[in-house]
Amino acid sequence: MDLRLFTTGVICTNTYCFLDGEKSFSFMDPGGNGKELVEYVKSQNGVISSVLLTHGHYDHIAGIRCMVEAFPNIKIYVHGDDAYRLGENAFDVAYREFVQLGIGEVVDNNDFPIPPGDVLLKDGDVILKGSPTFPDGLQVVSTPGHSPGSVCFFSAEKNIMFTGDTIFAQGSCGRIDCEGGDGEKLKTSLERILSFPDDVEILPGHGPASLLKTEKKFRSSLFSF
Ligand SMILES: [Fe+2]
Repeated sequence: MDLRLFTTGVICTNTYCFLDGEKSFSFMDPGGNGKELVEYVKSQNGVISSVLLTHGHYDHIAGIRCMVEAFPNIKIYVHGDDAYRLGENAFDVAYREFVQLGIGEVVDNNDFPIPPGDVLLKDGDVILKGSPTFPDGLQVVSTPGHSPGSVCFFSAEKNIMFTGDTIFAQGSCGRIDCEGGDGEKLKTSLERILSFPDDVEILPGHGPASLLKTEKKFRSSLFSF
């Protein structure tokens, strides 16, 4: 499978890139380095047609502005419950949240404005059906807790799940002290992810990939928050 990984932004976000058309690219969670992402696509004589967001935290959206400047027709996919983190309030939300986390200084005004979402996702949606990388599309799995609108994107045909900041490798999960974080919802979401088959590979928003089989062994540390 032709999946390219870029590490972007202030918290080393995993930004996944793949073809969603013959010469068009989709980027998941462009957390920064927008110019670099645009240059890559131009070097491939391609365009960017979509941005998929596992959630709307600043470190997953900071690259969007540069991308939209270069390719104004980009469609942004975000769950409805995180949509308020984009559009006219994007800077205020990002700055308020990162100040609360004690790292307000990393929010760069030059990363804004960020346009609002174009496609508001909900659980069970199947997106990008017919794309070269995911002919059967990607299934939206709603996994709130780290943020209200956190989602995973699951491909049954490729046996992979993009998990954003909901679950990471080695038995850890996303923090719940961000705006709208909810520990009980996160526990339910983690149970849901762990109910998928053992051989599903998870591709988190930060850090290395893993197999669900491995993460199921870390259950006690995973649920220790
Ligand atoms: Fe996050």
